Amino acid sequence: MAALRGDLIGFLERIHRKYGDIVRIRVLGKSVIVLNHPDYFEHVLVKNQKNYDKKTYLYKVLKPAFGNGIIGHVGGKEWRRQRRLIQPSFYRSRVDGLVPKVTEPIAEMIQRWRGRATPDDVIDIADEAQQLSLQVVFTALFGAEPGGKRRAIEDLFVEAHHILSNFFRRPFPPLGWPTPRGNRLREITGTLDHYIDQLVRDRLRAGMHGDDVLSILIEGLHRNAETGGDRELLGQEVQNIMIGGYETVSTTMQWLLYMVATHPQVQERLHHEVDEVLSGSIPAHADLPRLTYTRMIVDETLRCYPPAWHLMRRAVAEDAIAGYRVPPNSEIYFNIFTLHHHPDLWPSPDRFDPDRFSPEQRARRPRNAYVPFGSGPRKCVGDYFAVVELTLLLSMVAQAYRLVPAPEQRRAQPDQQLTLQPKGGVWLSLEERG
Ligand code: HEM
Repeated sequence: MAALRGDLIGFLERIHRKYGDIVRIRVLGKSVIVLNHPDYFEHVLVKNQKNYDKKTYLYKVLKPAFGNGIIGHVGGKEWRRQRRLIQPSFYRSRVDGLVPKVTEPIAEMIQRWRGRATPDDVIDIADEAQQLSLQVVFTALFGAEPGGKRRAIEDLFVEAHHILSNFFRRPFPPLGWPTPRGNRLREITGTLDHYIDQLVRDRLRAGMHGDDVLSILIEGLHRNAETGGDRELLGQEVQNIMIGGYETVSTTMQWLLYMVATHPQVQERLHHEVDEVLSGSIPAHADLPRLTYTRMIVDETLRCYPPAWHLMRRAVAEDAIAGYRVPPNSEIYFNIFTLHHHPDLWPSPDRFDPDRFSPEQRARRPRNAYVPFGSGPRKCVGDYFAVVELTLLLSMVAQAYRLVPAPEQRRAQPDQQLTLQPKGGVWLSLEERG
């Protein structure tokens, strides 16, 4: 528990050095098996995934936020029904169609920054990234109108995240108890439920036209005899997608811009690519496959700082992982950060080097060495959308500005919260590019 509250990553790295890729630890009297090898990830998340569900500590902690929606769902038939409902919204062709809706708020942000490109002006990137990723979720995915009410909802989102993050570090008393933070979280989720319900009702009243995620979810719900227009289920999934798509992306945006600002040679190559591929225009989905280096920077950032940095599973029946006995009911813990820094897979793991994601280097690595989005049937449903959003952001910012760390910027360390945010924020200055 002391490690959980303090430097969990340091603790895991120490036990990895001492005991290797599979080790059993005890947390609050419970036995937890810690895995740190791609083959073991593959075993639990892919090959033998039927034996593993999400009835674990991590998802119990998150239950007050995710409710019975897909992200924290234990698994099985009910989860599959939810996955079938959500998956079509994130097919590649659908996501490609959303590109103009994603570039619009990015272009607005870049425009808003004009006039701030002076050495004395410092941009609070954490704040900008939060605003932008919420805007993308609300507008591009759910077609919500901007306005005063939405701004208030966005603030509630941020507050709920703080409560959960603190709870994750100090998980007592439980959030279900009538304490001030438990009561506040219930109040917030009640308001969010109400807002989302209204969003769904408005859309139903207006007819189901449109190509955003909400329309596709509604269509799916009506088509599916099992779900048959269940508005409560729909609201829950909308909330899960909002949470899943907001915090992870906004954290990555911060790291992405920080890494580029602090690695001038990477920034140089990035500028070269975006100038050549985009020639000054706003990127369209057809440009994405040619933004190869931009995409490599996104991948390397997600390797260094995977925002959803740990997963857990429970073994339903007895199993063996590479000969290691797994008794029934064991909790399995995966730390994506330590896997992404495993010295046998990633030489000089602390070095930021986008070339690790060149096709040749990728081909040399084992499967599941790189898993920022998880793996197997429960892999992130929004993975492609997230990568598209981040690639668009980076290419558009790079077209307009050179990023420079502000004097107050310290060497960013990951803050081991619910997601791995840069501690102390990211503070950058902008130089306008010709
Ligand atoms: C950089 C961005 C993102 C990262 C790193 C990320 C990471 C993850 C991970 C690791 C999981 C698997 C959890 C597990 O197996 O226990 C997951 C699941 C999920 N993510 Fe993401 N995610 C990101 C963005 C998104 C976006 C943009 C959306 C939607 C708009 C989204 C929606 C979901 C949903 C619905 C699930 C649950 C899937 C299921 O259980 O079947 N995520 N995500």
